[in-house]
Amino acid sequence: MLSYFIMVKIAPSILSADFARMGEEVKSVKAAGAEWLHIDIMDGHFCPNLTMGPSMVKALQKVTDLFLDVHLMVTNPENFFEAFAKAGANLLTFHIEVDPHPEKKIAQVRDLGCEVGLSLNPDQPLESVLPYLPLVDLALLMSVFPGFSGQKFIPEATARAAQIREYIDANGLACRLQVDGGVNRLTAPELIAAGVDIVVMGAAFFGEQDRAGLVKAIKALPQGRT
Ligand code: DX5
Ligand code: ZN
Repeated sequence: MLSYFIMVKIAPSILSADFARMGEEVKSVKAAGAEWLHIDIMDGHFCPNLTMGPSMVKALQKVTDLFLDVHLMVTNPENFFEAFAKAGANLLTFHIEVDPHPEKKIAQVRDLGCEVGLSLNPDQPLESVLPYLPLVDLALLMSVFPGFSGQKFIPEATARAAQIREYIDANGLACRLQVDGGVNRLTAPELIAAGVDIVVMGAAFFGEQDRAGLVKAIKALPQGRT
């Protein structure tokens, strides 16, 4: 087994936070020891829900120094890249499903000074994203269909994560691997063993009383690949 010495990062998704107490919720993310804040943007077209926009990112960057990880589940992400970059996003991730030839969009995000991620849904063939991984900072593998937090983890995601990890390592890429959807104390161990670098956690993080304990437990999980 190959071990990874870089500790896994946790990206709590504010979609599961108490919106009426957002400032305190975000402080609790930092206090718990998580490094990233995952911000789910939905347009009611790419996926069946509406969430938030650049104004949320702008408000959050004033109250936190957490890494702002913006997940664009929208049909025309290019219409919003600049607004999110100006609002203070650190990373903009969009979906391969909206553009099977994403080179131009990747370049647009880079030109705005943000890191760039490419995401794929649970039913999207891995082959559609692999050729683009040398161009991006992050591959985001969905382990639920986009739309809502609190959904059940789709178990096939673990083998898919391992395959992406293998491709990243075989090609010596700097691209990190993130998994999003239904990640919790029970599903995280197999993902981290498969070589995932960053786990998104919505319901599992914000539904937890002992958030620091959760982060500590996830970070202590053995890393590597199966
Ligand atoms: C799913 C979103 C996820 C979700 C994660 O559409 O992209 O980020 O909010 O929430 P949990 O961890 O509860 O599945
Ligand atoms: Zn997400």
